[in-house]
Amino acid sequence: MTAVSVSGVTQVFNRGRPDEVTALSDVDLTVAAGEFVSLIGPSGCGKSTLLRLIADLLAPTTGTVEVSGKPARQARLEQAYGIAFQQAGLFEWRTVQRNVELPLELRGQSKAERRERAAEMLELVGLADFAGHYPAQLSGGMQQRVAIARALAVHPPLLLMDEPFGALDEMTRERLQTELLAICAQTGTSTVFVTHSIPEAVFLSDRVVVMSPRPGRITGTVGIDLPARDEAVRQSPDFFSHVTLVRKTLRGTP
Ligand SMILES: Nc1ncnc2c1ncn2[C@@H]1O[C@H](COP(=O)(O)OP(=O)(O)OP(=O)(O)O)[C@@H](O)[C@H]1O
Ligand SMILES: [Mg+2]
Repeated sequence: MTAVSVSGVTQVFNRGRPDEVTALSDVDLTVAAGEFVSLIGPSGCGKSTLLRLIADLLAPTTGTVEVSGKPARQARLEQAYGIAFQQAGLFEWRTVQRNVELPLELRGQSKAERRERAAEMLELVGLADFAGHYPAQLSGGMQQRVAIARALAVHPPLLLMDEPFGALDEMTRERLQTELLAICAQTGTSTVFVTHSIPEAVFLSDRVVVMSPRPGRITGTVGIDLPARDEAVRQSPDFFSHVTLVRKTLRGTP
């Protein structure tokens, strides 16, 4: 079963205008069910654009995007994925708890079910004490954690995450990486994860997809074969050799 299938996708913004930008050129990407794939590449290479295409927040100029074997649009309507994007994107007038409950409300879950799941997710991201706060009363990193809790709340078959841990301190970041892997393993979730951090990509992924500067293309893929994903592995020679390989692929000097 294929979770995501992007084929022959080109994305041109402002076509025919002086400010025309080819953000993606001829991109093919397949993500298997249960697979964790990271996208890494320089700023402006089209990583967010690719995620937005998969989420059907954008229609490709050419090419096709399928999620779970369905057109991206149908998958969006069926809420086949959860998203946590670069900006937290919270609703300012809803409390933290009610932001996390939103996708559950859309699925018609009962109030009791929503309460319970939201509490569980807020506990996971360390915000149990802030359930009644409003987003404006939180720091940027805390808002990001609410967005992560919201994305995970429905246990979607596919997670799309755009630098979700970018605003977090190193300790919180590493803890959430471990939690994210545990959730994905438990629920069989497939994930497409954008990051600027090579060690983060190596720690989380089955496969790291490397992109080039504009027009964004996939220039390499590094399979990650580590014996475990625990604290010890972060210090292992095996881990560092994968980091080096991704760095070389990014530089285009394998
Ligand atoms: N809605 C838009 N209209 C016009 N151009 C856009 C739009 N969205 C993105 N672009 C352009 O497409 C290119 C890719 O942008 P994108 O946001 O996908 O990059 P990115 O790889 O996510 O970068 P970063 O690492 O900085 O987040 C950029 O040149 C950007 O200016
Ligand atoms: Mg981006």
